[in-house]
Amino acid sequence: MIDIHSHILPMVDDGCQSIDQALQMLDQAYRDGTDEIVLTPHLAYPYHFENPSVKKKGLFSDFQRIVKDAGIPVKLYPGCEFLFDSVESFYEHLDEITTCNDTRYLLMEFFFDADGKKMIEAVRCAVENDLIPVIAHPERYESIQVSDHLARDLVSSGALLQMNKGSVFGKYGMMARDTVMDLLEAHLISFAGSDGHHPIHRSARMYRDYQFVKELYGRDYSEAIFNDNAAKMLRNVDIRGTKE
Ligand SMILES: [Fe+2]
Repeated sequence: MIDIHSHILPMVDDGCQSIDQALQMLDQAYRDGTDEIVLTPHLAYPYHFENPSVKKKGLFSDFQRIVKDAGIPVKLYPGCEFLFDSVESFYEHLDEITTCNDTRYLLMEFFFDADGKKMIEAVRCAVENDLIPVIAHPERYESIQVSDHLARDLVSSGALLQMNKGSVFGKYGMMARDTVMDLLEAHLISFAGSDGHHPIHRSARMYRDYQFVKELYGRDYSEAIFNDNAAKMLRNVDIRGTKE
């Protein structure tokens, strides 16, 4: 499996707080069937998670070396999870954003009470800048939970959707669970991510979720979400319009 959303890069945000913890998470994920992971520390100015690309680049290569020395054969890629709060702030920080493996794909999140208008605005903004916006955990946003068309509108506007591990099991509440099931049913989800922060409370293990999706929605769709689409993303192939 390929995990496109994780907070394993240690000591840069609210994710792993030590190298040991980060190595433990990677080891767990690898044993669980994940062999490629995009490290996506928060780039969230309102929360003071200020991890500009230059800083992240250095930390990423240092950590990659540590992981190699520890003998954990997980392939790592650079990235970030950008919190979109306004068009002005997007343009102000555009140079600080690290896309997934330096491709056109940008992992984006919103405040949890963001309205649909803001989300569509964010997608348009990214598309205008030749980026492919990937919306992190759409099932967790209230505006998507209560709308029967917003998720589809976002996809029609050029976005792709990434569900979190655990959502199908109710980790983020029943509204998020029902929403992710609807999105899966409609084949609107393109990627899965662990959004892993901690080896015990929010681990990066996704196999249980892979199996669940496979049993309910079929092997092809589960493979697409947990592996194939991400593999194309990492090679900068635009999957919009062709995805499973
Ligand atoms: Fe995240």
